[in-house]
Amino acid sequence: MTTILAIESSCDETSAAICKDGKILSNIIATQAVHEKYGGVVPELASRAHQQNIIPVVQEAIAGAKVNKKDIDAVAFTRGPGLLGSLLVGTSFAKGFALAKGIPLVEVNHMQAHVLAHFIDDPKPRFPFLCLTVSGGHTQIVLVRDYFDMEVVGETNDDAAGEAFDKTAKILGLPYPGGPLIDKYAREGNPHAFAFPEPQIAGLDFSFSGLKTSILYFVRDRVREDAEFLEKNMNDICASVQYRIITILLNKLKKAARQFGIRDVSIAGGVSANSGLRSMLQDAADKNGWNVFIPAFQYCTDNAGMIAIAGYYKFLQKDFAGQDIAPLARMNF
Ligand code: KG4
Ligand code: ZN
Repeated sequence: MTTILAIESSCDETSAAICKDGKILSNIIATQAVHEKYGGVVPELASRAHQQNIIPVVQEAIAGAKVNKKDIDAVAFTRGPGLLGSLLVGTSFAKGFALAKGIPLVEVNHMQAHVLAHFIDDPKPRFPFLCLTVSGGHTQIVLVRDYFDMEVVGETNDDAAGEAFDKTAKILGLPYPGGPLIDKYAREGNPHAFAFPEPQIAGLDFSFSGLKTSILYFVRDRVREDAEFLEKNMNDICASVQYRIITILLNKLKKAARQFGIRDVSIAGGVSANSGLRSMLQDAADKNGWNVFIPAFQYCTDNAGMIAIAGYYKFLQKDFAGQDIAPLARMNF
């Protein structure tokens, strides 16, 4: 029996989870509402909120899993990448807990954990598979050969897909984070109402900054002609922007699947919660004969459940960290 306590604090979600032999027993996520009015995450406020949240969140995770503190065998934590001040809170807590209990520490790469979220529930993908990891900070196509043998084969040259959603939302006057709101409006809109350009980027890399600029000019020009343009067309604008972001993502994913001859294809990260992406991915799967894997909603956005599963596989390999470990704002695989 192996019981792991996992901590995630890389951005603006404070989360703790308990995993027993690869099963997630609890996954508590405290979202920080304090950033809404600033239109984005304010790092200093995020660190303070993590400090306030971490103990109650861990207590709730332990109570929810109905385990005893003394039965915890290891503490896994997000070492990076992320906001340094935020990562420090989770890292320090994990180190203190491990030291006090005399149990091992397991460091986890947040981006690998997004991929490993596919190993929480059945059905699980088979190696090698492709994972399109799309979040507020990253857009990557990852070739996954084994649990910890992953290669980034395509990534964004500028904005992440989540940022494209959030920045569009800001242009449209919607609050942060705008991704879920665009998803909501898009459901009622026509994705072909307005045509936004698809950038021509070589290989498997992405670019979203040109799209953002074209949306900005489009909105500026139309609002100049009709002050109520946004209110009247919100659903169609959101559906059209979302359609373009998704086709940019899926066209590269199709290219990668062809290039590597892979049929197990998955998505991960906050943007994989997007309903349009989920349904268009399923359509692409039906056309291309792919097996598609999408994590449960609670394991798509930042959460400690995915840190726990990654920590569990590292624990099995006895891959432990020392008490001198420090968080990393940038961290490669
Ligand atoms: O993985 P995540 O929770 O945090 C990071 O590591 O960045 O991803 C957050 C991102 C935000 O940009 C948010 O707007 C986006 O995921 N997001 C969505 C949806 N839900 C979250 N974007 C589009 N549609 C959604 N339903
Ligand atoms: Zn993330």
